[in-house]
Amino acid sequence: MVRWSSVETQKSFVAITGASRGLGRCIALQFGAKFPPDSGLVLMARNLEALESVKSEMISQSLNVKIVVRQYDQGNTEDADYFNDIFTDLLSTNNISPSDFEQFMIVHNCANIGDVSKHSLELSDAKFVQKYFDVNLTGMILLNTSFFRTFSDSTKARVVVNMTSAVTSTPLPTMHLYCAGKASRDMFMRVLAVEDPSLRILTFAPGASDTDGTRGIEANSRSKPLIETLKQLRNNGKITFPETPISKLVQILEENSFENAVYVESDKLF
Ligand SMILES: NC(=O)c1ccc[n+]([C@@H]2O[C@H](COP(=O)([O-])OP(=O)(O)OC[C@H]3O[C@@H](n4cnc5c(N)ncnc54)[C@H](OP(=O)(O)O)[C@@H]3O)[C@@H](O)[C@H]2O)c1
Repeated sequence: MVRWSSVETQKSFVAITGASRGLGRCIALQFGAKFPPDSGLVLMARNLEALESVKSEMISQSLNVKIVVRQYDQGNTEDADYFNDIFTDLLSTNNISPSDFEQFMIVHNCANIGDVSKHSLELSDAKFVQKYFDVNLTGMILLNTSFFRTFSDSTKARVVVNMTSAVTSTPLPTMHLYCAGKASRDMFMRVLAVEDPSLRILTFAPGASDTDGTRGIEANSRSKPLIETLKQLRNNGKITFPETPISKLVQILEENSFENAVYVESDKLF
């Protein structure tokens, strides 16, 4: 069985979703500094300008990897070909081939927190709920399938990083959709791991980090206890800069001793 063989040695093709800001931006910067020259990093999100700005930041740090930005809406599940063709298009547009690389990685980082201004029993808009799961579950599954159809050579190392959260086992008020979506994704990855042991799958929870996501919960949640919990985490220095959990993520990948699709956390929150 081919195993992941460390970020620093193998020429790799890496796709990162939600790379325009927050933890995803930080993953792009830290991975860009770790992977060997001629590796390819694809930065994906809706905001092209923000992606270009992350790319410029990476170039200004003299990173030797090839950086491609790809505008991408993970909620675009109505167009069947949108996900099917995404990586084949990307390879042909950039004149690269899977044979140019020794290993392949996809980082499923894109997510949103849902409508935290509502409690569970106020969720009555089917389209809104469906859209949430389109972005946070269905789109992730379709992108994952597309990635491994394009990068299908199982004699090479193929890796998934599934960005998860402590909320998969700790229910938090007003975070109904987020908790349910993250728990579903984790189980999807566990099934994938038993079906295809040739894949290396890291399910990684970054702890609480200071991003638009966290600030959105603090600003909009209807739950005073949840806002109080976040306030306490802030006061106790438990809300980190993104660099801290992402350094830990890189370290875990380098050590390569994690169990496939088993929950690993950067910092114990609850
Ligand atoms: N921050 C934390 O404390 C924390 C804790 C546990 C887990 N996590 C997980 O870590 C990951 C990153 O979190 P974060 O806090 O950095 O999030 P964030 O600041 O809200 O950033 C979310 C990213 O996802 C992208 N995105 C959102 N909707 C999208 C869509 N429809 N299509 C494509 N891209 C989309 C956004 O880019 P565009 O808007 O440009 O599309 C952005 O780059 C998430 O999976 C989150 O659940 C975060």
